Amino acid sequence: MTAPLRIAVLASGRGSNLAALIAARDAGSLPVEFVLVASDKASAGALRLAEAAGIPTLALSPKGYPDRRAYDLDLFGRIAASGAELLVLAGFMRIVDGAALAPWAGRIVNIHPSLLPKYRGLHTHRRALEAGDAEHGASVHFVTAELDGGPLIAQARMPIGSGDDEERLAERLLPLEHRLLPAVVRLIAGRRLALAATGVTLDGQRLARPLNLSGDDLRL
Ligand code: GRF
Repeated sequence: MTAPLRIAVLASGRGSNLAALIAARDAGSLPVEFVLVASDKASAGALRLAEAAGIPTLALSPKGYPDRRAYDLDLFGRIAASGAELLVLAGFMRIVDGAALAPWAGRIVNIHPSLLPKYRGLHTHRRALEAGDAEHGASVHFVTAELDGGPLIAQARMPIGSGDDEERLAERLLPLEHRLLPAVVRLIAGRRLALAATGVTLDGQRLARPLNLSGDDLRL
């Protein structure tokens, strides 16, 4: 049996994606050890969830650092010191400096609420509605210095309905996110999914397109 993967999670907000990861671990379907949950916001719900689950936490405010790079290097250095093998960004609402990301190449993933490459950045639900899209979704990707631009791993898709407004769309997407993220982390923890020079690989084969949540590979 492979050892549980040591993971750290970075989150700025309520932490429902973190909760989904913890629930999957508790259910026995996600072989990970949470070594740290960190946030740029001391008030983040994610920190409270981690405390309740007995996971070490770190609240580190960017205030008082000379610039973003100084903060990011400190934050990511502390995460490295936790012994994390994989870093999961789950609602971390900051752009991260390339110098801080470099040591994590292929070991850091992010969940983003759009069908990337559509709608990088903020207000993804609103932008999908404004564009008149028939479909919306969420993506998990390896993180690079390009905002929401790293190699795609997997997506969850859903139709946009006539009754959807921004809030409703976000609310309907969330349960899909909560399945997508643990499913991807599970493949990484099982040492099945990785980032190679050629792109994302699953069981040694390069992915021609992102995995789909409804596909067999992502079943928890
Ligand atoms: C999610 O929609 C995630 O895709 C985005 O930020 C939100 C975080 O929600 N990056 P939560 O804090 O996990 O509840």
